Amino acid sequence: MKHLLKLQDLTQKEILEILNMADQLKFEKKNGIAHPLLAGKTLGMIFQKASTRTRVSFEVGMYELGGYALFLSSADLQIGRGEPVQDTARVLSRYLDGVMIRTFSQKEAEDLADYGSIPVINGLTDYAHPCQVLADLMTIREIKHSFAGRRLCFIGDGNNVANSLIVGAIKMGMEVSVACPEGYRPDAGVMKWAAQNGSFTCTADVLEAAEGADVLYTDVWSSMGQEKEAAAKRKAFEGIYQINDRVMEAAGSDAMVLHCLPAHREEEITEKILEAHAAEIFEEAENRLHAQKAVMVKLMGEN
Ligand code: CP
Ligand code: NVA
Repeated sequence: MKHLLKLQDLTQKEILEILNMADQLKFEKKNGIAHPLLAGKTLGMIFQKASTRTRVSFEVGMYELGGYALFLSSADLQIGRGEPVQDTARVLSRYLDGVMIRTFSQKEAEDLADYGSIPVINGLTDYAHPCQVLADLMTIREIKHSFAGRRLCFIGDGNNVANSLIVGAIKMGMEVSVACPEGYRPDAGVMKWAAQNGSFTCTADVLEAAEGADVLYTDVWSSMGQEKEAAAKRKAFEGIYQINDRVMEAAGSDAMVLHCLPAHREEEITEKILEAHAAEIFEEAENRLHAQKAVMVKLMGEN
């Protein structure tokens, strides 16, 4: 594993290794055991979009591993004035030990990896959000203790989070159902891969998708960069594509609820359900830290 660009590139074994290390690092942190596994290393963090969780968890994570993280807003980099990513990649590779990028196009993250010579971590593109889903899988395993045969249902926009979640959950042997409006389905290539490699369904019917789910998951109807489409999307999703009491009832009483956050209450999830499942949702947010520390150690550590 040289980069983390999308979960398609990882084997089930590699994902499990990351999750196991993440559990170990979480245990060590909770017990005050230092783990300076990246002492003296530097991570650049390029942000072309806003972030709370990704920015803070990478920066704190690098500090806890004994390294140093640089926040690089694209507005302040020459990238924001048109310097090509191919050149940025070759320059940053001479200063840093790794780079995380949050941007629009997946190709830009891939180019950064292709032209540079250091590990690249995708901190969210329009296509994928692999760091999020590693934390999600860690949380599911923590709460449900297993993956195989468990049912995960994603309700909402077939976006970056949905694409990565489908791939990650199928790789771990979960059954995946997605409920979304026509026209807002996940990436066609991801759905085809999922159907060929596991149990996958995509329907417009929310209750059908939620039936018997162990894990219910949702994300915002409009992602960063989709501001112009937001009104049309609201029309397509409103009143239907939401985790609420009816959906919880279809899933069953011990279903857990995840949300990558930020959440829009009364849109994709009701306030009541979000608060009832806050313990799970904020554990998920915490697990971003532990999962990403494991990713950085795997990519930038000595072995
Ligand atoms: N879930 C997530 O990636 O959050 P941020 O946008 O705050 O980083
Ligand atoms: N799908 C959302 C996720 C934010 C963490 C977005 O891309 O804005």
